[in-house]
Amino acid sequence: MNEKRIGVDYSELHQLDSPTNRLIRESIWGIEDDIGQQSFITPRYLDQLVPRLSIEKTTRMLDVGSGAGGPAIYIADRTGCKVCGIEINEVGVEVSRKLAKNSGLEKKTEFHLGDAMEMPFAKNSFDLAISLNVLNVFEDKTELFKEVRRVLKPSGRWAFLSGTFEISGDEETKRKMARGYLIPQYYDSLESYKEKLKLAGFRIEEITEYVADFRVQVKKWRDAYKKHSSMIAKEQGEENTRYHIEYFDTYLKLVDEARASNHLVICSNPE
Ligand SMILES: C[S@@+](CC[C@H](N)C(=O)[O-])C[C@H]1O[C@@H](n2cnc3c(N)ncnc32)[C@H](O)[C@@H]1O
Repeated sequence: MNEKRIGVDYSELHQLDSPTNRLIRESIWGIEDDIGQQSFITPRYLDQLVPRLSIEKTTRMLDVGSGAGGPAIYIADRTGCKVCGIEINEVGVEVSRKLAKNSGLEKKTEFHLGDAMEMPFAKNSFDLAISLNVLNVFEDKTELFKEVRRVLKPSGRWAFLSGTFEISGDEETKRKMARGYLIPQYYDSLESYKEKLKLAGFRIEEITEYVADFRVQVKKWRDAYKKHSSMIAKEQGEENTRYHIEYFDTYLKLVDEARASNHLVICSNPE
């Protein structure tokens, strides 16, 4: 494990049923919209994504950074497709497998513990790869994109949703955002994403900005952290809790200043 990996730890957040996480999750999603996501994703968003990506029973889909498995399991449930998640945090993988079992979807889902930079899958394995609110954690996105392309079938598609940022040169903001969500983050602008996708050999098909609903989600996370800060501090540490409130505050400010947004990027593997 290299030094950077040591920081990759979502263990507390992936314990979806810890008393503090129950409080946070209820404030953000209530009962109905809690699908076991660890992100700004909502079920409504996934309902729009499924037809847009033509996900159906025969689709073999990879979820990069599948977290606690919620979104992947939701898609498998809605479409009957076969889903494979790759996730670096073992608590995430454990919780994903449990969620899949509780949903009766063990046969439709597989969750692998591993690094998306070196995936344990043969080339040409998937029709579609998705990633939801993960990409900021990858320092070398061109290499990640090449690895995704390796495991995609010819003409397979790669669709990701990611925050996009215009903060280069703003050291104060970078400091406040540096390890948002507990792990080191490497922020890219939309232009930089486009360049890196092209370098990795992808053809960009479609880019859509989702900012209004995204702002609502970031605000919900921030408000939940503020509301339950003393409980969260007991479970996740005072320093972490303070850091997160500042992180979400900074994120919201950037959105309001139009320096941060959220894009869905859909690409295809041209081979
Ligand atoms: C913000 S969460 C999103 C999880 C999930 N996509 C969702 O929407 O619920 C980011 C996830 O990426 C995982 N992750 C970070 N680095 C990774 C890597 N190198 N390979 C695979 N997963 C990684 C984290 O452990 C975490 O579970």
